[in-house]
Amino acid sequence: PSEDAARVEEIKRLLKAHNAVLVAHYYTDDAIQQLAEETGGCVADSLEMARFGARHEADTLVVAGVRFMGETAKILSPEKRVLMPTLEATCSLDVGCPEDEFAAFCDAHPDRTVVVYANTSAAVKARADWVVTSSIAVDVIEHLKARGEKILWAPDKHLGGYIQKQTGADMLLWDGACIVHEEFKAKGVEDLKSVYPDAAVLVHPESPEAVVSLADVAGSTSQLIKAAKELPNEQLIVATDRGIFFKMQQAVPDKTLFEAPTAGNGATCRSCAHCPWMAMNALDNLAAALREGSGEIQVSDALRTQALKPLTRMLEFQA
Ligand code: 13P
Ligand code: SF4
Repeated sequence: PSEDAARVEEIKRLLKAHNAVLVAHYYTDDAIQQLAEETGGCVADSLEMARFGARHEADTLVVAGVRFMGETAKILSPEKRVLMPTLEATCSLDVGCPEDEFAAFCDAHPDRTVVVYANTSAAVKARADWVVTSSIAVDVIEHLKARGEKILWAPDKHLGGYIQKQTGADMLLWDGACIVHEEFKAKGVEDLKSVYPDAAVLVHPESPEAVVSLADVAGSTSQLIKAAKELPNEQLIVATDRGIFFKMQQAVPDKTLFEAPTAGNGATCRSCAHCPWMAMNALDNLAAALREGSGEIQVSDALRTQALKPLTRMLEFQA
């Protein structure tokens, strides 16, 4: 702990020295989220991270999260230096949607509007008409459906299926999944609910349909935190990465939060619902990135220009 305290002080000093700001996702370690809060940075969902980074006047953005978040920040702010604690932090959705195969899928369906989840590479975004995050996905698809458009959606099949159900849009889905959310089990949530019948169930829609169907509220990380505050229930069962408990518990200090089970027998598995790539962000590599300028995100001009269009559509979209 004293080593951590020294690291925290070093990071605070380096952030100032480089006119840098820390932008952290809700799934990163508590210490990183706290540091972002204390230093005037932000702790947010993927959409708010993108907005915050694009608006901020810092010279350097330090993005604690996964690679697509750093790339998005760089595409939106090419004049800023964007550093990440590690460039190894990817996402199973990004990995499961390679650029070439995705391009072939799009080529095979030229009549469809291409909408991709933010959890994709810059190259995949460059091929899209729209980028969306989970907090505005339903609204954007609703809007496109109203214009009579048919959708090609990638990469998350669970989120895509959820949006399809909510909107009734004609959507062709890529077959990708989040390895973290896919582990939640409906049986486990039902068993926990039978022990705590008054608990509300909060679910991120990257989870399987059977789990989402048990939700009182399904939504992005920021929407789930908001729901935790607004719901009258004193107990909440939460099906998303456990990193969210830091901010959620701050938001509802008197409520009891339960991790949704990742095993069918109702037992909670403390190590399962945590993204291995988010977990790669630590105080040590964060300090090193600032000290050495390591983990810098680069996006070529050609890719940036193409990927900026669907990203700008997302940021300018008003439901
Ligand atoms: P949010 O946009 O809800 O923060 O989700 C990002 C993510 O990677 C969820 O797994
Ligand atoms: Fe990707 Fe899932 Fe990790 Fe989010 S939690 S970054 S969707 S692997």
